[in-house]
Amino acid sequence: MRILAIETSCDETAISLVEVKQEGKKTKFKILGNEVSSQIDIHKEYGGVFPALAKREHIKNLPLVFEKVLKEAKMEKNYSPSPLLKGRTGGGKIDVVAVTTGPGLEPALWTGIVFAKELNKKYKIPIVPVNHMEGHIFSIFPKKGKTFTVENKKELFPMLSLLVSGGHTELILIKDNPFDSAQDKLTYKKIGQTRDDAVGEAFDKVARMLGLPYPGGPEISKLAGIERVSSPAKGKIKEGSDPLALRALPLSREREIQIQLPRPMIYSKDYDFSFSGLKTAVLYLIRDLEKQHSNILQNDKMKQKIACEFENAAIEVLVHKTTKAIKEYKIKTLIVGGGVSANSYLQEQMKLKIKKEKLKTKVHFPSKSLTGDNALMIAIAGYFGYKNKKFVKSHKSTKLKAKGNLSL
Ligand code: KG4
Ligand code: ZN
Repeated sequence: MRILAIETSCDETAISLVEVKQEGKKTKFKILGNEVSSQIDIHKEYGGVFPALAKREHIKNLPLVFEKVLKEAKMEKNYSPSPLLKGRTGGGKIDVVAVTTGPGLEPALWTGIVFAKELNKKYKIPIVPVNHMEGHIFSIFPKKGKTFTVENKKELFPMLSLLVSGGHTELILIKDNPFDSAQDKLTYKKIGQTRDDAVGEAFDKVARMLGLPYPGGPEISKLAGIERVSSPAKGKIKEGSDPLALRALPLSREREIQIQLPRPMIYSKDYDFSFSGLKTAVLYLIRDLEKQHSNILQNDKMKQKIACEFENAAIEVLVHKTTKAIKEYKIKTLIVGGGVSANSYLQEQMKLKIKKEKLKTKVHFPSKSLTGDNALMIAIAGYFGYKNKKFVKSHKSTKLKAKGNLSL
């Protein structure tokens, strides 16, 4: 069967078309078309995603991206690029439309939903509403090339997923096989989440404080990487040390200036996170350093140091809490997903910690092109949703609405 997936939850207009074949416990996917049109350059000016602008861009981009995907799949003769336009009628080649209904920016989500509804109206294709976060979990399956297989194996469970993006930071426990056709309910259990800012949001805000462009994650990561190579760490912060301690030496000795930021909630008993305090600590740090030495942000070395310590702090908390959950729930497979999963320090530290702790857990990160938002992950989640009978036949269904705060 062929699934068309639509993703418009934030600032990427993405559409994928996949062919799926079920062979026993193996589900084989073939990518027929896959396109992402990013709005980053437009939102950069505002230092973040502006919902009304995202909506306008999605409306403009959806028919163009759809047409590109159809051409890639050599199916442009079967469908009109815009379901809103009069044109060629369907050749019946798309069996299901999967669309992200949340979480995300509601005006942006609606554009994808309306597009899916129009396809349903015109071609009578059933629609599967997909949870964006579930998509991020499935994003680890496609590797290089046009085909990939999702295999249903008992020994992979229990699974844990660390979902880290601009809007989310959560730990999801997947106890039983979520894509077992015998079940009609997926067994996701949220065991922890951020109580305030998401980790990606903290990266973006700290980047802005340092005068770096949006999105801030890759920018912070780049500076932190330079700092780690030029001044390797002399030792880690010990458990029980005052997390708020911060020491600033004269700028003339900037190489010796030691910056220490808090690791919020790292030793709390639960699996929750908090990144707003860390962000505020960076704000105070910059303010205090500015008081002592002016033009602190003109100094590249200081920017690198702040970026590096911020990244160390954020990643240390993520790795610590995830490993704790791995041990408690005897996790066999760890899946990391969402925009922040592109962070190379997170990838390195997570693998290192699991090795150091002699845990047998297999760790999976998405391939580079799938760490951010994309429609391929929505197609995979959509297929399993369809198998679990989560589709609706009519565009009039009340299930087809944007839910900004939709939870797993
Ligand atoms: O999943 P995503 O593309 O969109 C949301 O659903 O939010 O995640 C975007 C977030 C942004 O906050 C961005 O700064 C962050 O992912 N990000 C990174 C990196 N690449 C993207 N954060 C840290 N390090 C990176 N390399
Ligand atoms: Zn996302």
